[in-house]
Parts: sequence; C-alpha cells; structure tokens
Amino acid sequence: MPRDSVTGSLAQEAPALRIPRHLAVTMDGNGRWAIARGKPRTEGHRAGTDSLRRLVEYAIRYGVSYLTVFSFSSENWSRPRDEVNFIFGLLRRFVSSDLDKLVRNNVRIRVVGERAGLDTQILQLINKAENDTASNDGLTLVVAFNYGGKAEIVNAVRGLARQVQAGTLDPDEISEDMISGALYAADIPAPDVVLRTSGEQRFSNFLLWQSAYSELVFIEENWPDFDEACFVRVLEDFGRRERRFGGVGAG
Ligand code: IPE
Ligand code: MG
Repeated sequence: MPRDSVTGSLAQEAPALRIPRHLAVTMDGNGRWAIARGKPRTEGHRAGTDSLRRLVEYAIRYGVSYLTVFSFSSENWSRPRDEVNFIFGLLRRFVSSDLDKLVRNNVRIRVVGERAGLDTQILQLINKAENDTASNDGLTLVVAFNYGGKAEIVNAVRGLARQVQAGTLDPDEISEDMISGALYAADIPAPDVVLRTSGEQRFSNFLLWQSAYSELVFIEENWPDFDEACFVRVLEDFGRRERRFGGVGAG
C-alpha cells in the first residue's frame, strides 16, 4: 500500500514528557569522560560541575519540585586524597559562587548525609547554604553529601531504638512511616525517578529506602556530557513507564 494512502495511523506521535515531582541523579562518569580525552580525572569533575548547573536550570524550567544529586558518597573517601580534596574544593566553590544565583532563582538547598567528622569550613558552608535559602519555595535542591543509604537507615533505626530504650516507643508500633520519618530529610517525598549516567546500573548505596518504588533510568552518557536532550529523554522514558506500586495497573 502506498504510504500516502494511509491516513494518519503511521504518523509517529512525539512521546509525551512526564515531569517527575522528585528526580534523583547519580552523576557518574566524570573520571571516564576525562580519561577518554587524555585529561586528568579532576578535569572531569570540573566539567561535571557545569553539568550540575545545567541540570538545576532544566529542573527549574521544566517544573521539577525536588532534585536530589549524589555529590559525594560516604564510600568516595577511599579515593586518592588529591581527588577527594579537589572534589571538596569544587563543591565549596560551587556553593560559594552559585549561592547568590540559587537564592535569586528561589531554590531551597538541603544537604543530606553524615555531618559528624566533616571539617568546620564545610559545615559552615552547608549551614549557610541551607539558612540563606530556607525561605525559598521554588525548586528544592537536595545535595547528598557524605551520604550513604545504609548509614542513613542505621541512623534512623538508632533514633527509634533510643525511644524504645527510654520507654516511649513500643517496638511493635514501629512502622514504615516511622522509619521514613527518621531519615535525614523526612519531609521530602520519595523520588519518582532515579537516574544514573555513564551506563552503570547500580544503586551504589543511594536512597536505598526511598527508592523502593522509583522508576530507574540509566543512560549511557557520562555526566559531563549531560545536556537538555538527555534530560528530555529521561522525561520521555518516565512518560512511558506504568507505575503500579505493587498493584495490577489500569489494564
Ligand atoms: C562521578 O564520577 C563523580 C563522583 C563520584 C564524585 P566518577 O568520578 O565516579 O567517574 P568514573 O565513574 O570514575 O568515570
Ligand atoms: Mg563512578
């Protein structure tokens, strides 16, 4: 049948974008991006910071309410000292140079992760970023820093165990909601989408409790190559998923 006699049905509709309320991102592949270009790994982290700026801009423009980014895991301490220092320097500069702009763009910053053991300069910066943006009500940018999902659950369970010990909580009353409520940022809803770049398909201890029903999206691009086309593809992918939360769906 000649193509022009077919009416409409062959026309490919553009896939629908779906905007997640909460998008969580493991920004992976900085090192590989740099090595592939004959550059030191640190150059990858530098370029990755520009990707993070772009991501924040897309999240605001497309109307994402919560954006969580995995910036430094509690396991990343095992990297060479120089690389750790470089990443910390970048984060410090990112917060100090971009904070005014984030304030102006109505972004509220939250930092989740283990605070104990961080140096005072970093702690001051975290407090300043959270305090200066506390009254903003646009995008909530959650920065997972010195973060580990298992450690977060341990921390939550310890808090509940203390209540049991004090006699104010009956172990049989411990519920999923109570554990959710004892996590680092209990007021933030679970992520709808967890994205990881660079082709790796692992959780790597990111938001273990919160991602129980998240849609997982993996893309091949390394984090420094993340651009608006990648972002749109993630939203299209999400648009094709049927979320059933353990039910049977619409049929
Ligand atoms: C992600 O890129 C950045 C951090 C974990 C801080 P990587 O540094 O993990 O890059 P690869 O995985 O070695 O390519
Ligand atoms: Mg990696």
